Amino acid sequence: VPKADLVVVSNRGPVSISVDDTGSEQMSRGGGGLVSGMQTALESVGSAVWVCAAMSDAERAVAQRAAGQPLAGSDLDVIMLPIDEETFEAAYNGVANQTLWFTLHMLFDPIRQPLFDAEWRRQWEAYQRFNQAFAEAVDELAARSAIVMVQDYHLFLLPALLRKRRPDLRIGFFTHTPWAPVDYFRILPDDVARDVVAGVLGADVVGFHTQRWAELFRRCAHALLGDCADDRIAVFGLTADAEEMAERREAEDVRAAASRLRDVIGDRLVIGRVDRIELSKNVIRGLLAYRELLRDRPQWRERVVHVVFDNPSREDIPEYVEYAAAVERLAAEIQAEFSTPGWTPLLLSVQEDYPAALAALTLTDVVLIDSVRDGMNLVVFEAILLAEGKPQVVLSRETGAADLLGDDAIVINPYDVSQTAAALDQALSLVGQPETPATAARAERLRVAAAGRPPARWFNDQVERVRLVAQQ
Ligand code: G6P
Repeated sequence: VPKADLVVVSNRGPVSISVDDTGSEQMSRGGGGLVSGMQTALESVGSAVWVCAAMSDAERAVAQRAAGQPLAGSDLDVIMLPIDEETFEAAYNGVANQTLWFTLHMLFDPIRQPLFDAEWRRQWEAYQRFNQAFAEAVDELAARSAIVMVQDYHLFLLPALLRKRRPDLRIGFFTHTPWAPVDYFRILPDDVARDVVAGVLGADVVGFHTQRWAELFRRCAHALLGDCADDRIAVFGLTADAEEMAERREAEDVRAAASRLRDVIGDRLVIGRVDRIELSKNVIRGLLAYRELLRDRPQWRERVVHVVFDNPSREDIPEYVEYAAAVERLAAEIQAEFSTPGWTPLLLSVQEDYPAALAALTLTDVVLIDSVRDGMNLVVFEAILLAEGKPQVVLSRETGAADLLGDDAIVINPYDVSQTAAALDQALSLVGQPETPATAARAERLRVAAAGRPPARWFNDQVERVRLVAQQ
């Protein structure tokens, strides 16, 4: 393999490989905010190599066969690392998803969780090995003075490992999640908390979606290491791309799915949401708010349908399995309480169906994003750009997106179900009203903000910044 001048590194790669019923390997697009943003960004860059982990048996088999060469059948140069299953599972599920994700999104139920014991320490060692394996792979393939852009909480230790191994490299790190306040971050074992922050600070530039997360990281760096890190921390917001969304909206499969959905919904208003089925997305309180809306404001019965698209996610983690089941139960309760012969109040779909999810957003009148904490939330931007009409936005103040959309959205406290119900009521009422210059201007501001920091710009700004800082 020729050495690469630009290397992107993340746990999940742009392709996901599975084995179908006939035993043949299928390649599809990887999921989640990181992959979709980065994929679009890289289309604008000449050549880059993307290093990622094999995340399943099928991927490990393919990665083994590739033996360090880029995967066949992918447009991008993808190097997939065949990290052994035990190491991967402990690093990905045990540490990245169940410890670090929970910390950054403040999801622990502190009466029982977390619990750092000998078993957890073994997982932490796996996380260290996992990061080490990436360091070795990047060392192998990065050209002298190459730029290496490391992504997310799976790879917190990698920037410092690379810095030590290869002082010539210019390293960017970007966190797609929120950061946690110092007191919360210190739930982590002391050495782990320090290693995480020191690991990240191995980078020349440490990027966040918003000032709020950047500031929280700066405070952790200061409290734990006495390092103000001010020269390295920067904000690079990411939104959707207007052209890409316009293309997607016109795509054959999306239009077909939209017309099928329209047949079911009729001319009713649509409250839409699309998420990974994920604790931080707060789907349950969202459903409770919808139930409260229908209970307390009966004028909306028969006039609205809540369309909920949940992509399955992290199904090896018990909390996620329970959460998914609770979502299904609550959805069934809402159906039972309100359905009439001519009206289904709720359409819940838990499956991987990208065109159908986009189709739901094209029909959305009110988009509901009530995450308890969310680095940015790209779905809200996609909804604004995909919708046929001019959608109203009900948005959690704990999302990075709230900082970009500000007063043009109806901003809620995600824990306050009654406030969310009132916001839905307000949003639905606004949909029916005739347009005024003020509402037209607001819709336009939302559209501009939703496309203001497209992936290519987000990525190129970071690369530029890494070049600049590393030169100094
Ligand atoms: C978020 C994270 C990504 C992650 C994605 C999907 O967007 O920031 O790093 O890839 O969720 O999660 P998963 O565990 O399925 O990769």
